[in-house]
Amino acid sequence: MRHIRHQRICIMSAKGPPSCLAMLVALLAFCLIGPAAHAGDSERGRYLVEALTACDNCHTPRGAAGYDLSSRFSGGTQTFSDKSYVVRGPNISSDRETGVGAWSDEELRAAIVDGVGRDGRLAPVMPSDSYKPLTARDLDAIIAFLRSATPIPPRLMPGASAAFDEASLADKNARGLYVASLARCLSCHSEEVDGGPDYQNRLGAGGKTFRNAAGVIVASNITSHSVKGVGAWSDDELKRAITQGVARDGALLKPPMSTLSKAHFSKMSLDDLDALVAWLRTIPPKE
Ligand code: HEC
Ligand code: HEC
Repeated sequence: MRHIRHQRICIMSAKGPPSCLAMLVALLAFCLIGPAAHAGDSERGRYLVEALTACDNCHTPRGAAGYDLSSRFSGGTQTFSDKSYVVRGPNISSDRETGVGAWSDEELRAAIVDGVGRDGRLAPVMPSDSYKPLTARDLDAIIAFLRSATPIPPRLMPGASAAFDEASLADKNARGLYVASLARCLSCHSEEVDGGPDYQNRLGAGGKTFRNAAGVIVASNITSHSVKGVGAWSDDELKRAITQGVARDGALLKPPMSTLSKAHFSKMSLDDLDALVAWLRTIPPKE
């Protein structure tokens, strides 16, 4: 459930009762311009975001030349991981499906200054603590600026961009794809190009890099390539890697893979695991 605090909406009224004239003016403005009339000042928001709060740092993809502003706020490039989470700055563009286009101002305020998302507390990587001092007006300005940014749809895995119907899961390959998408296998194991996984050309090819206590870890190639990928692995070897975090040669895999194996994939049902492995084998080989 959501735990969104509401105290901020009362800030205006704390300054004393508005005069009748002010109310009349506000009502008139509302009738003439509509509900957006009280929206924040997006130019002020641009200043705050660009000069101070650096939301792009984690929420905008980066290429060799710096931020890719053509997909501003569509999600950050780097992943942050800790014992209890693996996160990436999500899409905060105004896309309604995967961005925050459908979030209310109140929900956005809660995320930005209270660190509370729609599904509860956000990982502390989201620096809400530093944003707490934002005045109500500046917070609204940032929100207005976010809302003015182009909605950027997410990169979705081919075949997994909409709800599956129950009946289709009877097919083993469809079930495997379903499991792979939910378990985010390919969002880590596909090479990133321009700040996001390149599902079209580099599905499963690995290459995404994680920095954590274990060092610099590169997501492996899990395509069916017999040398570079896992094409030569037996089903049992693959299942062991997924559910126990053990590599083909018996070495322990490193986080985030080992963490996910232990905490989550070890609980995968045999049917789901079978379907997943069968589907993994359909990923065309890549170097
Ligand atoms: C240092 C990195 C970092 C910076 C800087 C940052 N964020 Fe975030 N933000 C994150 C991460 C990581 C998450 C996801 C946390 C999670 O999933 O638990 C997040 C989550 C959010 C969410 C919730 C979105 C959702 O789908 O759950 C919003 C809204 C948000 N950030 C807005 C902003 C804004 C606006 C700024 C600048 C004022 C900003 N962030 C600056 C890292 C950052
Ligand atoms: C959060 C990112 C992430 C997710 C999600 C993830 N992996 Fe991994 N995986 C990695 C990394 C990083 C490695 C490399 C670990 C190492 O080098 O020790 C890895 C290693 C592997 C290996 C070992 C390959 C080899 O050559 O040693 C296999 C197999 C594998 N993952 C399959 C999967 C499958 C299947 C899923 C989904 C059920 C999955 N992974 C989900 C990041 C991830």
